[in-house]
Amino acid sequence: MHFSARLDRFEDEVFATLNEKRRALETQGRDIIDLSVGTPDFAPFPHIVEAAKRAVEDPACWKYALHDTPELLEALVSYYDRRFNVQISTDMAMSVSGTQEGMGAFALSAVDEGDTVLVPDPCYPVFRNAALLAGAHVEYYPLTAEHGFLPHVADIPEEVAERAHYMVVSLPANPVGSVGTPELYRELIDFARAHDILLVHDNAYADIFYDDAQTFSIFQFEGARETCVEFLSLSKSFNVTGARISFLVGDPDLVAAVRKLRSQTDFGMFLPVQHAAIAALTGPLDAVERQRLQYKARRDALCDGLESIGWERPNAHGTMFVWAKLPGGRTDSMTFCQELLMRAGVVVTPGASFGPMGEGYVRFALVQPPERLRDVVAAIKHAGLC
Ligand SMILES: Cc1ncc(COP(=O)(O)O)c(C=O)c1O
Repeated sequence: MHFSARLDRFEDEVFATLNEKRRALETQGRDIIDLSVGTPDFAPFPHIVEAAKRAVEDPACWKYALHDTPELLEALVSYYDRRFNVQISTDMAMSVSGTQEGMGAFALSAVDEGDTVLVPDPCYPVFRNAALLAGAHVEYYPLTAEHGFLPHVADIPEEVAERAHYMVVSLPANPVGSVGTPELYRELIDFARAHDILLVHDNAYADIFYDDAQTFSIFQFEGARETCVEFLSLSKSFNVTGARISFLVGDPDLVAAVRKLRSQTDFGMFLPVQHAAIAALTGPLDAVERQRLQYKARRDALCDGLESIGWERPNAHGTMFVWAKLPGGRTDSMTFCQELLMRAGVVVTPGASFGPMGEGYVRFALVQPPERLRDVVAAIKHAGLC
């Protein structure tokens, strides 16, 4: 059988060995704590589930949706106002089937073969893979400890900036746990304008941040409307990862272009899911804040614990992840993850899987309660992985 050469642009599963070892240990009855995948263990809020349930009972909701309903887009408009004090219009927004899918549709709509796309290194893999799917040439800009794991545009070579079509920025940042400041957003927008680059802000973790960190919609900043688009996913804020609810917000012409592309193969978001999204966007947000504090308690338990056993304090100012430098001068993240699994029974993600600059680090997902995270630290200490 012949398959498209397009598939060759993507690497094979790097976790195969780790998963195989993990299955072998589980078969032996070992208790394995999985902190590798960023799927929240919290439940979706009851008013969201109720809205979906009501819609599921209505036969009309089982028809092709075809479009975003006006109620859904109005709900998003009102949410941007309530949450970010940003005024958008319904023609500036469309739903996508999760940011993951949306990023692919966006890339296919925004670039041609050989165009240049700037993505962070390390980064959430779809930033890179969506660009590759569209046949673009990927250039990395590094997120390093030296600059607080934040974009440092002064280091992007002029020649790369000049040929870049779009640049992906995501703050709070997965996997590195850094958060933006107003100054940084302004600098990014100035950089994008100076080089005629479309700035793509993935705002997946707007509601998970700690201490005195702040999060923003990029449209809170002057000049963003002409230069930026934003993905706003409900996955992590409302624990609805499987429902695939996210939005692309930006210039109406750009949104229309992505809609045109998607409508060739897509008949719209299942109507009960649209009802769930409306309930999330228009309903109470106190549970989102309570959940943020629960993530903070987890972040504290893990970071304090790792520091107490001799690890460098991890970077963790936002997102549901903790970005930790390998202890004891180790440098190979995949080897360390295998050791951690075999000796401590803990699964985490090797930093190298997020890009070359991720080597030397691992990512812990905060998907277990504080008590369990303290057990993780005790197991790491007991295994001597300090
Ligand atoms: C930075 C980032 N963007 C997007 C997503 C996925 O969002 P969605 O569920 O809307 O596809 C994730 C999920 O882990 C993420 O970390």
